Amino acid sequence: MTQDFRGALIGCGFFAQHHARAWLELEGVELVAVCDRNKARATAFAQTFGVLSVYDAAETMLEHETLDFVDIATQASTHSELVALAARCGVNVICQKPLAPTLEEARAIVESAQGVTLMVHENFRWQRPMRELKRVAAELGPLFYGRIGFRSAYDVYADQPYLATDPRFILLDVGVHLFDLARFFLGETETLLCHTARVNPNIAGEDVATVLLNMTSGAHAVVELSYASRLEQELFPQTLVQLEGPLGSAVLTADYQIVVTTAQGVRRTDATPHVLPGTPGPLTAIPESVLNVQRHWLECLQRGRMPDTSGADNLKTLELTFGAYRSAEEGEVVRLGKL
Ligand SMILES: NC(=O)c1ccc[n+]([C@@H]2O[C@H](COP(=O)([O-])OP(=O)(O)OC[C@H]3O[C@@H](n4cnc5c(N)ncnc54)[C@H](O)[C@@H]3O)[C@@H](O)[C@H]2O)c1
Repeated sequence: MTQDFRGALIGCGFFAQHHARAWLELEGVELVAVCDRNKARATAFAQTFGVLSVYDAAETMLEHETLDFVDIATQASTHSELVALAARCGVNVICQKPLAPTLEEARAIVESAQGVTLMVHENFRWQRPMRELKRVAAELGPLFYGRIGFRSAYDVYADQPYLATDPRFILLDVGVHLFDLARFFLGETETLLCHTARVNPNIAGEDVATVLLNMTSGAHAVVELSYASRLEQELFPQTLVQLEGPLGSAVLTADYQIVVTTAQGVRRTDATPHVLPGTPGPLTAIPESVLNVQRHWLECLQRGRMPDTSGADNLKTLELTFGAYRSAEEGEVVRLGKL
């Protein structure tokens, strides 16, 4: 009989509830401990999710618990210390995006985790509509164009106030998801050009970014990001995608339909996410994608294989992200691999 993997969650803030719900839902894993430097928050969280052990310091938790992995759901500035600590204890790590606030720090994190398995908790590619789109895109031939868009005026600062004060905002917070999707659908990038803007005067970072990618395959892609777009339909946190190949196009629409147009005609596939019980507000596709990415993590641990969004893989997503910042700052095309 195989034993359950023993996991512990570090960080019991806004997003961690989705991680915890997914761990409880999945088979073959037990959430044995939680940790938050705010002990009261950790205690309340443990009570909500029926977790027995509570800590206010990760060092103490790693000393006292026998763990197969830690799940880090803290903000990016804390990741390097926490990943290195877990790796020193020989404990595998799943870590929230963005992996780090700079590319240099992200590279150092991946280096520090050489002896364990490190996966970045990159959930957008695990949304049901994205999996379905990837499947149907195979019938379009080699893709020559992609558009990946996230445009909203949702008050994201209410649940995540730090996003209003971070000097770098939308490319680092949402851009990482969309660049990961660009890689998922279209492969790697050769050069990019990015423009950013800060429309909301009450925040520190950029809330609008438009990025043109020139892929190594020869395809072009546009990645569009905005938290300043008041539109007829508020779609937060939906991402709309259009892919085109020589044999046709596939468009993921706002009502979660995938419209495939080929010489044979037009076909619609329903890609509505399964909304898990207890899903708050507009988050529709998100909890299911969290469940999917965490299931993938367990399968990788079980089979001893590298996760799709391993630390090393995620460095390519971060090269796009920080390359986009450099392009916006310098007003020039940036060649990837030279950062
Ligand atoms: N994938 C998604 O869709 C998605 C959505 C929201 C947030 N996130 C990511 O999740 C991460 C957390 O975001 P959040 O909004 O939940 O943040 P948060 O600030 O609400 O929660 C972070 C928690 O971590 C705790 N913490 C910080 N440092 C710690 C340490 N060293 N040891 C123990 N606890 C510590 C804090 O006390 C806090 O309770 C961020 O990286 C964010 O980008 C991802």
